[in-house]
Amino acid sequence: MTSLFSPITLRGLDIRNRVWMAPMCQYQVTTHDGVPQEWHAVHYGARAAGGFGLIVVEATGVSPEGRISPACTGLWNDEQVQAWKRITDFAHSQGTPIGVQLNHAGRKASTHPWLPGQPSGTVPVADGGWETVGPSAVAQNGLDIPREMTLEDIHKVIDDFVAASRRAVEAGFDTIEIHGAHGYLLHQFLTPLANTRTDDYGGTFDNRTRLIREVVVAVRAAIPEGMPLLVRLSATDWIKDEPSWDADQTVRLVHVLKDLGVDAVDISTGGAASASIPVGPGYQVEFAARVKKEVGIPTSAVGLITEPRQAQTLIDEGLADIVTLGRAVLRDASWPLRAAHELGLSTEEIPYPASYWRGVWSH
Ligand code: FNR
Repeated sequence: MTSLFSPITLRGLDIRNRVWMAPMCQYQVTTHDGVPQEWHAVHYGARAAGGFGLIVVEATGVSPEGRISPACTGLWNDEQVQAWKRITDFAHSQGTPIGVQLNHAGRKASTHPWLPGQPSGTVPVADGGWETVGPSAVAQNGLDIPREMTLEDIHKVIDDFVAASRRAVEAGFDTIEIHGAHGYLLHQFLTPLANTRTDDYGGTFDNRTRLIREVVVAVRAAIPEGMPLLVRLSATDWIKDEPSWDADQTVRLVHVLKDLGVDAVDISTGGAASASIPVGPGYQVEFAARVKKEVGIPTSAVGLITEPRQAQTLIDEGLADIVTLGRAVLRDASWPLRAAHELGLSTEEIPYPASYWRGVWSH
């Protein structure tokens, strides 16, 4: 056993190791109805057999208009529940817990799938897109100006998160991650870059954090007591010369979220504005480390963590409790199996699928 491969328990969920798969949009719902397809079953299935502690499924719309693109997954109807159930059942058959990242994309909704050969920008209504909404009528660079949300719109978003959470439970997901990062709706409310409201949802820290707090409280009350609730946040907008979201506010918010029943946070950065970001190996770890140290909540680090020793060192040095891997996992569906071997676990300790016994890594 090594620290990276030691188990962690969040509420009633036992997770066999600290290598988690990051949510990553696949843009593969070719039917444009939010229903996960064969691609999703194969993509998540391969990784469910790949030894991860937890898989977090891609940003999934709580409503049709909350999707990032027309080709994104959703959880607003029963057909979607049934399609997800097949995927969660398979993950469980491999001993892998699986969660879903619930999202409303706000002013970053209705975009073209981020795939080779696709245009960028907002998909026009005439081409299957939809009117976007946001805290204020302030556009993200390169996207349409959203319609400023009414209080009724805001209340509907909370209801949609609750309904999608109930459906996630029905679909067999083991945990829910609320997407509060990367410039999507909840982050849009947090940051003055997107939120210029003058009502109870804008202005002060308490007002800008109101929506995410209300979503967390409502979702927490709607899911089983034993189910952990995760939140992903962007710790900073990386913007210095105008009012924006930053690490101090993140720490303050995570204190509050912990008190409201959030069990772990995944700390990313950016997404609300074009910014100059010092990208490099583990470039966001410092933010996770600060949250972990100052709030004392189970914390995941993410962002250019690619090597087993690098991941293990983060845990050993107490900088994070969990490492979440994105692109490395697109390259290597069984990253944890290889990492476990490289970190010296014995074959018996590594969760190889039985059928792959002749292909195990050996010394
Ligand atoms: C992402 N990322 C992302 N993040 C998120 O919170 N929800 C999502 O649905 C997606 N979608 C997505 C798709 C693809 C193809 C990539 C590559 C990334 C960001 C991702 O979860 C992760 O935070 C970053 O990729 C940084 O980690 P890595 O890739 O450096 O390990």
